[in-house]
Amino acid sequence: MSGAQTSFALNSDTSIPAVGFGTYLISNDDAETAISSAISAGYRHIDTASGYRNEQTVGAGIRKGLQAEGLTRADLFVTAKLWPGNPAWGDAPKTGAQTIKECDASLSRLGLDYVDLYLIHAPYGGDMRLEQWRALLELQNSGKARSVGVSNFNESHLDEIAAAGLPMPDANQIELHPWSQKPDLLAHMARYGIAPIAYSSLVPLSTWRTEPGQDSAKTDEMKADDTAFKNMANKYGVSEAQLLLRWGVQNGYAVLPKSLNPDRMRQNIDLFSFAIDETDMALMATMDRGDGVAWASGDPSK
Ligand SMILES: NC(=O)c1ccc[n+]([C@@H]2O[C@H](COP(=O)([O-])OP(=O)(O)OC[C@H]3O[C@@H](n4cnc5c(N)ncnc54)[C@H](OP(=O)(O)O)[C@@H]3O)[C@@H](O)[C@H]2O)c1
Repeated sequence: MSGAQTSFALNSDTSIPAVGFGTYLISNDDAETAISSAISAGYRHIDTASGYRNEQTVGAGIRKGLQAEGLTRADLFVTAKLWPGNPAWGDAPKTGAQTIKECDASLSRLGLDYVDLYLIHAPYGGDMRLEQWRALLELQNSGKARSVGVSNFNESHLDEIAAAGLPMPDANQIELHPWSQKPDLLAHMARYGIAPIAYSSLVPLSTWRTEPGQDSAKTDEMKADDTAFKNMANKYGVSEAQLLLRWGVQNGYAVLPKSLNPDRMRQNIDLFSFAIDETDMALMATMDRGDGVAWASGDPSK
């Protein structure tokens, strides 16, 4: 594995860059500059979602970044996500027809003709979940999405698609870092040929989502072992963030760090000049603490 543009296969036609740029919690004031700076820093994958309410400004950043770097649309991988609705929040699940419309609306806000990957953001669709998945397959057939997948789906949600005899998702975007390693889900995904995409890789940083209203629900057990990451990062002469992101790509997961800080943006994509040795990978394998913390307000698998 070498070079920032290393990629992982998604399906027979598409591969996903190993390092992408996350856009959750990037405001509309910041998005255009942040996305264009990320493209200039070398990112070739932008991960967004209608739920982040910044698609229009993310789209402006994509255009600005491509132009500044003399790149074309084909040089960039863009992920967008369907907000599926959530009956538990009084938000009616999207029907198949609404799913197609939602994708069209996202494309229009982003100013794109297609996305490289379109995901169902969470398995909240209930009775509509399979209808939403069928709609994504239709979007793939019509060329509006080069590949299609899901996010926050657990084993039973994937089994539901298999039991319906439908083509399986190309990817499942899930929270993955040393504290949330999900070995059973990953094994299940591997059996179905579903690629893992890791979000919130930087959860173990002591500074992760510490702003008011961004509670991350870290347990005391988690907080107690964060010096291990500091010590390892020092050993390799990299930052803790680089160590955590390298853990992801070294395991074969595409990662999606978000940063508004230009130095960190560059640092987070610089993951291929070192490798975590077997001893440290084995130690990190023992640090699994369960399901994850990024969805502090509730288990997205329900
Ligand atoms: N599918 C889903 O349900 C789902 C859920 C969550 C996230 N995601 C996707 O995954 C992306 C990444 O996840 P995330 O945004 O939750 O968190 P993340 O990328 O793991 O962490 C972002 C936080 O870490 C800080 N940071 C970034 N680089 C750093 C560095 N080198 N050193 C120290 N601090 C650093 C950032 O602050 P600064 O900006 O100040 O650097 C920010 O506070 C999202 O943006 C989104 O695209 C998807």
